[in-house]
Amino acid sequence: MLIFKFCLTLFGLGSLALALTAQPDFAADVIRANLLQSSENAMLEKRNPVPAGYDAPPYYPAPKGGWVADWSAAYSKAQKVVANMTLAEKVNLTTGTGFLMGPCVGNTGSALRFGIPNLCLQDSALGIAATDNVTAFPAGITVGATFSKALMHARGFALGEEARGKGVNIQLGPTIGPLGRKPRGGRNWEGFGADPVLQGWGGAETIKGMQANGVIATVKHFVGNEQEMYRMDIIPHGLMRALSSNIDDRTLHELYAWPFMDAIKAGAGAIMTSYNEVNGSAASQNSKLINGILKDEFGFQGLVMSDWLAQIGGVSSALAGLDMAMPGDGNTPFLGLAYWAYDLSTSVLNGTVPLERLNDMVTRIVATWYQFGQDQDYPLPNFSANTDQPTGPCYPAALISPTCATNQYVNVQADHAIVARNVSREGITLLKNFNNTLPLSTAATLKVFGSDAQNNPDGINSCNQRACNKGVLGMGWGSGTANYPYLDAPIDAIKRKASQVTYYSGDSFPSGATVAAGDIAIVFISSDAGENQETVEGNNGDRSASGLEAWHNGDALVNAAAAKYSTVIVVVHTVGPILVEKWIDLPSVKGVLFAHLPGQEAGNSLTDILFGDYSPSGHLPYSIPKAESDYPSSVSLVGFELFQVQDTFSEGLYIDYRYLNKQKITPRYAFGHGLSYTTFSHTELSLTAVTPLSAIPPPRQPKGSTPIYSSVIPPPSEVTWPQGFNKIWRYLYPYLDNPSSISASKKYSYPAGYQTTPQPDPPAGGDQGGNPALWDIVYTVKLTITNTGFRPGKDVAMLFLQYPSDSPYETPIIQLRAFDKTDTLAPGQSQAVTLEVTRRDLSVWDVGMQNWVIPASQSKPFVFWVGSGSANLSVACESLSGACSGGRTPPVV
Ligand SMILES: *[C@@H]1O[C@H](CO)[C@@H](O)[C@H](O)[C@H]1NC(C)=O
Ligand SMILES: *[C@@H]1O[C@H](CO)[C@@H](O)[C@H](O)[C@H]1NC(C)=O
Ligand SMILES: *[C@@H]1O[C@H](CO)[C@@H](O)[C@H](O)[C@H]1NC(C)=O
Ligand SMILES: *[C@@H]1O[C@H](CO)[C@@H](O)[C@H](O)[C@H]1NC(C)=O
Ligand SMILES: *[C@@H]1O[C@H](CO)[C@@H](O)[C@H](O)[C@H]1NC(C)=O
Ligand SMILES: *[C@@H]1O[C@H](CO)[C@@H](O)[C@H](O)[C@H]1NC(C)=O
Ligand SMILES: *[C@@H]1O[C@H](CO)[C@@H](O)[C@H](O)[C@H]1NC(C)=O
Ligand SMILES: *[C@@H]1O[C@H](CO)[C@@H](O)[C@H](O)[C@H]1NC(C)=O
Ligand SMILES: *[C@@H]1O[C@H](CO)[C@@H](O)[C@H](O)[C@H]1NC(C)=O
Repeated sequence: MLIFKFCLTLFGLGSLALALTAQPDFAADVIRANLLQSSENAMLEKRNPVPAGYDAPPYYPAPKGGWVADWSAAYSKAQKVVANMTLAEKVNLTTGTGFLMGPCVGNTGSALRFGIPNLCLQDSALGIAATDNVTAFPAGITVGATFSKALMHARGFALGEEARGKGVNIQLGPTIGPLGRKPRGGRNWEGFGADPVLQGWGGAETIKGMQANGVIATVKHFVGNEQEMYRMDIIPHGLMRALSSNIDDRTLHELYAWPFMDAIKAGAGAIMTSYNEVNGSAASQNSKLINGILKDEFGFQGLVMSDWLAQIGGVSSALAGLDMAMPGDGNTPFLGLAYWAYDLSTSVLNGTVPLERLNDMVTRIVATWYQFGQDQDYPLPNFSANTDQPTGPCYPAALISPTCATNQYVNVQADHAIVARNVSREGITLLKNFNNTLPLSTAATLKVFGSDAQNNPDGINSCNQRACNKGVLGMGWGSGTANYPYLDAPIDAIKRKASQVTYYSGDSFPSGATVAAGDIAIVFISSDAGENQETVEGNNGDRSASGLEAWHNGDALVNAAAAKYSTVIVVVHTVGPILVEKWIDLPSVKGVLFAHLPGQEAGNSLTDILFGDYSPSGHLPYSIPKAESDYPSSVSLVGFELFQVQDTFSEGLYIDYRYLNKQKITPRYAFGHGLSYTTFSHTELSLTAVTPLSAIPPPRQPKGSTPIYSSVIPPPSEVTWPQGFNKIWRYLYPYLDNPSSISASKKYSYPAGYQTTPQPDPPAGGDQGGNPALWDIVYTVKLTITNTGFRPGKDVAMLFLQYPSDSPYETPIIQLRAFDKTDTLAPGQSQAVTLEVTRRDLSVWDVGMQNWVIPASQSKPFVFWVGSGSANLSVACESLSGACSGGRTPPVV
């Protein structure tokens, strides 16, 4: 904060103070560090070498968009427009106008001659951030726990409706990276769980829902942003570079990039790169990642943007495939300096950035705008992320700004509270229920403990970007948040349902608590995490201080309650796994509910389950180990290293249950665990081979054509300041004072491996997401699920694949490949469920062949295990015989 004041005084930005407290995806540490830049520039460019075995191979040139059939109409519209654009118009669309230079967290320049306004980019993945009258949906991790594709879609659709209603063109979500490799990682909760298939479905369904409203979804963060601390350059380009996630090619494909394939297959319009480097090359200008993997192999047709202030070079990022720089500023905001904007004009005029590349950037942006129909009556922003007042400066970062109508307070919530409550309810995961203690009777005498049951007494939105853990924990902190329109606190909902309720709001056991036989204690505990720009109770974003322990002495509170009451129910609001060993086996701890991060509907969704109006149907989207040391040491948070922190993914494919299973470590609760108030049977299993197997996918089709433009460098006059132009100080423009003076006098020294001849079509590519044959269904497993108990409920069937035991590729024992959730089944009712297994699901990424290979064998089968969790598998089908059977010994426990 001190630094902020210094910064504000330095730049004379009094009006900024308010705006900053409302600003998403903006890191105080960047400003702090960048102010130091000038004095320490001397020692730049030093860094530790990336460990042997990891390198960032060059991949040039950037593949052009427009060759995929689904996008051809949008690209031909875009081509007509881009062909007529001036250099200034083109550059405008690629670059943000500067931090706090417009109503949204990111705003591009405009090209009004063609009806293209300043595009509005706005957080977050769980609601429209930093504004009013929106729904605060449950976080991604809660959505993952539902294992419901229908709810993933419904929430995405509602999010998109709200974004459109506020005039957001490009919504910054869903989050599908981090994947949750590190249990302490700060932003895992924004995504759907520690498994690529679950994360992939969560992302794809959210995208389809959002984009059905014409909003452009942004999947983020590509890739390897598994830890918050050190994620950014601390001194630009030097002394301390962003940490390097060193990831081998197979692990990238089978874990971290896998959900991005699904997102692209689902038609995602935008991708945000991450802050970190990968193999020692910044994600915002890693040519292998953007040009090679996203645009060539995965056939991505939309636009690639940087994370906020993550761009570290102008020419380098353009060549490496970045299409949009956000929020436009170079490494230090508020100075009116940019790597692109006017300097991209220069790099095109001097011939260093090929005009072809700029044309492709702009064509991708304009085509995406057409692809989602934003040329047809799309609303302009009617809110401001910078202020909650009805009027205010249009450009808070300018010293003198015109005044704008800022907020119209458009209420976009519609009936989305229903979707929010349904997701929160269906995410609630029943981990333990001794002797059917749950559900509770509304007539029971309830003693409720813990501050996590009530609303923050300071106000539900009192902490900037929810950067505090006070009151019920409905979401983590950082840019991935939204303001609560209301927060239905659990204690209020419990009091509405039950007649005998006493609440003790402290986090230590109250001396005055009365105990009577038959009392039931409900203890609320929590664990929080968030984005790195804020530190909460010593946790720097990641759970650096708390580890995997409950916050606020939650374990002690449970123990104290368990010592007094014979029946204790523990409710946990958490960003990820917490250790429960200190109390889980106490005889009075009879029930445990993980309610994850429920958003605004924390209360009703919980009482729906507590009192038995619904049976719980959530399942853990990660494992809960008995000790943190059960995980491989390589997934611990990495600490300080001078010059650059190296984070090497040496555990490869073995994260979460994949590792625990390999090491034969029995977790406390396995990935997928989740009980119900009723019981289900899985019968009539059958396996159908749909497509004959070949080791590799059938050859891809060659790429279709892409727009062709004149290659003549435009006249400098296209970027001279328009006559009488009213410049906003520090705003980022495409214009140059003296463009005709620019020449290509010296030779530019291009990166090693730079070329302008296109690379051969990668065999693994061919369409959005990759070779379309990867999505061919090769097997289906059908089964009948019957409710064999006494209450209505929903069941989840998960399919885990076991590779042939003679596979030449070492592979995790089992991996989730498909899942589905039933409708509500009444007692005795059955539903047929079909689980589909695709070619990709059976494949391994072969690094040498650079292709997906099915390691089928003549003598050993693929085994398709089906059950309600990774450690509850006893029925299976086998590929060679086609036979299915029950009562088998599970592959893992
Ligand atoms: C990282 O390094 C590994 C090992 O050299 C390589 O296989 C992989 O392609 C690299 N990935 C990226 C994105 O640079
Ligand atoms: C582009 O310019 C051509 C030729 O000047 C003109 O025919 C066409 O209508 C223009 N298209 C747009 C979208 O302005
Ligand atoms: C570029 O965008 C700015 C607004 O961000 C606008 O003032 C300017 O007119 C645009 N330039 C062109 C050439 O359209
Ligand atoms: C929400 O919208 C209503 C009008 O529908 C307005 O009165 C109210 O001020 C808005 N809420 C907030 C928090 O701004
Ligand atoms: C604001 O929201 C309303 C309702 O969604 C919409 O009709 C309008 O076009 C939006 N934009 C402006 C600038 O009013
Ligand atoms: C062209 O301009 C860019 C941006 O200013 C600069 O980085 C590059 O070195 C220039 N190239 C030449 C050949 O002068
Ligand atoms: C929400 O859940 C209720 C109860 O299961 C169901 O009737 C309703 O259709 C669901 N609505 C949405 C939008 O998911
Ligand atoms: C389980 O609950 C039933 C019914 O409330 C009770 O009779 C029985 O004693 C309980 N069993 C145990 C082991 O507590
Ligand atoms: C295991 O799966 C069966 C069938 O779905 C289910 O009835 C049972 O409750 C599950 N057991 C556990 C411990 O999850």
